[in-house]
Amino acid sequence: MKINARLKAIGDLVETNSCCLDIGCDHALLDIYLVKRKRNIRAIASDIAQGPVEQARNNIKRERLEDEIEVRLGDGLSTYTKEIDTVIISGMGGRNIIGICKAHPKVLKEITTLIISPNNYQQDVKKYLCKNGFYISNEEFVKDNHFIYQIIIFKKGTKKYSKKEYFFGPIFLNKKGPLFREYYEKEKKSQEILLTLLPKNYRYKRYKAKKEIEMIKKEIED
Ligand SMILES: C[S@@+](CC[C@H](N)C(=O)[O-])C[C@H]1O[C@@H](n2cnc3c(N)ncnc32)[C@H](O)[C@@H]1O
Repeated sequence: MKINARLKAIGDLVETNSCCLDIGCDHALLDIYLVKRKRNIRAIASDIAQGPVEQARNNIKRERLEDEIEVRLGDGLSTYTKEIDTVIISGMGGRNIIGICKAHPKVLKEITTLIISPNNYQQDVKKYLCKNGFYISNEEFVKDNHFIYQIIIFKKGTKKYSKKEYFFGPIFLNKKGPLFREYYEKEKKSQEILLTLLPKNYRYKRYKAKKEIEMIKKEIED
């Protein structure tokens, strides 16, 4: 089965010998990719909605992987069980991801690795998880169909981050590279457009947009 560059990049970041829970599995293409790579990975594909769960079951059956991938129906971390060490949440909004983590604080304490790829509000996700028992162990950009996505790996532990590190990502700041520049060039452009649209009396929003533009310019022109 064909997998897109974004899901492949997420799959390639999963460690050998892990037991993964893919929350919001949809079609389960990521889980199929994971177990087919034969790196001793156990996958549990879960989704809140019946439709995706059925689609996942059909795809898994077509690939004859019923013994290797379990499918569970449920909301977020409610499908977690003790054998799972890695939780993957991708292709959802950052606020939904935070909501999923907030709903099960006890489960969050048991997870050792979280692989998260939010569609937006990446900074909020980083802040929430780093204030709740995780640190950022890796960050990757992946370009897929003209969009650039962030993939962030959180591990159990604590580390303090500056505002700048939360904004750009502590690992991204060290690595930089062409996708970093392209991603933040786009961010800068959207803030510049926002500035032209914001009325003069929206002082705080205008101030924030200007600050972000300045901060990005400094980093990408370095
Ligand atoms: C856009 S798809 C993303 C699929 C895949 N993870 C990816 O990255 O391409 C989002 C999926 O998340 C599921 N979903 C949304 N909220 C959820 C929740 N609270 N718990 C479990 N699944 C959820 C939806 O039903 C949908 O199938």
